[in-house]
Amino acid sequence: MNSTTTTAAVHATPEGEPARAHDPILGTYKRPPMELVRGEGVYLFDRDGKRYLDFVSGIAVNALGYGDAGLRSALHAAADGLVHTSNLYHTAPGEALAQQLVDHSFASQVFFCNSGGEANEAAFKFARRWARTINDDKAEIVALRGAFHGRLFGSLAATDRPAYRLPFRPLAGGISIVERDLNDVAAALDATTGAAVIVEPVQGEGGVRVLDHGFLRELRALTRERNAALILDEIQCGLGRTGTFFAYEQAGIEPDILTIAKPLAGGLPMGAVLMTDAIAAAIKPGDHGTTFGGGPFVASVASYVVGRLSDPALLAHVRETGAWLGEQLQEIAQRTGRIRGVRGVGFMWGMDIMGTAAHVVSEAMAAGLLVCTAGEYTVRLLPPLVATRDELAEGLAVLESVL
Ligand SMILES: Cc1ncc(COP(=O)(O)O)c(C=O)c1O
Repeated sequence: MNSTTTTAAVHATPEGEPARAHDPILGTYKRPPMELVRGEGVYLFDRDGKRYLDFVSGIAVNALGYGDAGLRSALHAAADGLVHTSNLYHTAPGEALAQQLVDHSFASQVFFCNSGGEANEAAFKFARRWARTINDDKAEIVALRGAFHGRLFGSLAATDRPAYRLPFRPLAGGISIVERDLNDVAAALDATTGAAVIVEPVQGEGGVRVLDHGFLRELRALTRERNAALILDEIQCGLGRTGTFFAYEQAGIEPDILTIAKPLAGGLPMGAVLMTDAIAAAIKPGDHGTTFGGGPFVASVASYVVGRLSDPALLAHVRETGAWLGEQLQEIAQRTGRIRGVRGVGFMWGMDIMGTAAHVVSEAMAAGLLVCTAGEYTVRLLPPLVATRDELAEGLAVLESVL
C-alpha cells in the first residue's frame, strides 16, 4: 500500500514556476498549480489561503455559489434517504423532480442521466426513434457552426472543434455541422432523411454567441415543416443563467427536446432530457437506459436547486444585473481599447480580447479573479447567479486592471 501523501505535491521548475510532481490524474486538463480547498459565497480559497472571486462557477455549475445554507440542508436531507436503487424501481425524488421540470416547461416527460454529453446522446437517440416512426430513412442530425454539445462520439460529431474531433475519427455518422444560416440548415435538412436540428440558444464554448431570436423562430418553423425535431441544448445557458428559467422562453418558441445538466443538482453529476408527448410516445422500455440516472439522492438535491433557480426574484436579479454587467463590459472595452467585442446575456458573457484569452485568464487568476476561455480569443464570464452588483463590480475592476 502506498503510504505517501498525495496532496499538494508542488515543486518549482528551473524557471521558478511552481509545478506539480507526477499527477496520478490523467492530463486531459491543463490545471494551474494552486489547489482549491474551500468556498464561501462567490469566493474560493486555495491551500495557501489566497482568495479568488469566482466568475467561472465550476463552468456554469455552481449557480448558488459556495456554502449555500439551503443547498447544504438539501444535501444532508438527501443523505438521510436512499442513495441509489437503480432504475428498475420507482423512487419518489426522481418522479417529483420530473414533475417539477414538466411544470416549468413545454415538456411532458423527462429522462435523467449523469452529464450534459449523455443528455445529448440520449436526445439524438430519442429524436431518431421518433423520426423513424414517420419514415425509416429519417436519421440525419444537423448542428451549427460554433456548436459544443459534448465529447462522446455522437455529441462530438455535433461539436464544431476540429482539435477535439480529428484525433478520434471516425465519429458517429449521420451528424453534420452547417453555418448559422437558415438557408444552409434548410439545404442540409432533407424532409425525407432529416431527423433533428440541435442548437444552443446561447453558444457557450463557441464564444458566447447569443443566437438571434428571429433565427430560432425560423428554425422552429423549418423543423416543423420538415417533420424534424428541434433539440435545444440548454446545458450551459439553461436553468436561469440567461435570466429566464429556460433560454428558449425569450425567443417565444418551444422545442421538441431540451437537454440540461451543469447546475441541475448543485454540483452533483446530473443531466436530463425533456421532451414533448409526441417524442415520448416513440420511446419504449429497453430503448435507452442508465444505471445511475435520476437516483434518489441526486434527484432530491436537484429538486431543491430547481426550486431556487426558478424563483422569479432570482431570475429578475439575473436579468437586471446581467444587463448592467453587459453595459459595464462595454464601458471597459471603450476605456481599455483591449476588447474587440462583447457578447452575452444574463450572467453569461464573452469578450473578444486583443491577444490570447489564456493570458488574461492567468493574469486575472494571479490578481484573485477566476475567469475562463471560450475559444482562443474569448474570455468568458459565468459568475454564480447569486452574485451581487458589488461582487461583480469587484471582479470587473480586477479584469480591467489586467487587460
Ligand atoms: C452547451 C453544452 N452542451 C454539452 C456540454 C457537455 O456537458 P458535460 O461536460 O456535462 O458532458 C457542455 C459542457 O460544457 C455544454 O456547454
